[in-house]
Amino acid sequence: MSDFLTNPALVIVVAVADNGVIGADGGMPWRLSGDLKRVKSLTMGKPLIMGRRTYESIGRPLPGRTTIVLTRDPEFAVEGVVVVRDFAAALEAGARAARAMGAGEIVAFGGAGIYARALPLACRLYKTEVHVCPEGDTRFPDLDPRQWREISRQSQHGSEKDGPAHDFVVLERVEREES
Ligand SMILES: NC(=O)c1ccc[n+]([C@@H]2O[C@H](COP(=O)([O-])OP(=O)(O)OC[C@H]3O[C@@H](n4cnc5c(N)ncnc54)[C@H](OP(=O)(O)O)[C@@H]3O)[C@@H](O)[C@H]2O)c1
Repeated sequence: MSDFLTNPALVIVVAVADNGVIGADGGMPWRLSGDLKRVKSLTMGKPLIMGRRTYESIGRPLPGRTTIVLTRDPEFAVEGVVVVRDFAAALEAGARAARAMGAGEIVAFGGAGIYARALPLACRLYKTEVHVCPEGDTRFPDLDPRQWREISRQSQHGSEKDGPAHDFVVLERVEREES
């Protein structure tokens, strides 16, 4: 393991509004069917690390993935969910599950505190930029543009049926110069 990347690789999957909002009242401030499909394909067969509130907004372990939930509540237990008490334990559980599943990535799946812990360790960021500015109570941390390089962007039109316009963006961590 290098000094800032995990093995298997830690990646972030997130949808962020133009004003940085990712959540409101325990849910998502938009409905985007195309993004749900992308999230499914990006996460299938991989372990997902999420906070207890994000888990509760989903309400069940996602099929075909290993759901790892961070909580300090000693009573929290759900069949089919791996419960951990801190971020280091989440990474360990993620690495174990990824190896068992043959997955090359561990996915940090939110919310805000999980993203903040994952950002310094992640090598890739799968970001959906949603072109709305909703009110919300949960935000994605600011990205340091010197640390992340955009490697792909696909723009999607909005529609009444599918939701607001959005871009599917992939960013990779800029390699640090060897001294
Ligand atoms: N737009 C997106 O892509 C996206 C993705 C994910 C979530 N969201 C939204 O974000 C909101 C939820 O995010 P959130 O930031 O409010 O909550 P969250 O991160 O999902 O959950 C917070 C909880 O996780 C536990 N936790 C977090 N860090 C921990 C640590 N280091 N050690 C132990 N336990 C820890 C604690 O649970 P206990 O209180 O049980 O101890 C904490 O109260 C929702 O609105 C959701 O819809 C959006």
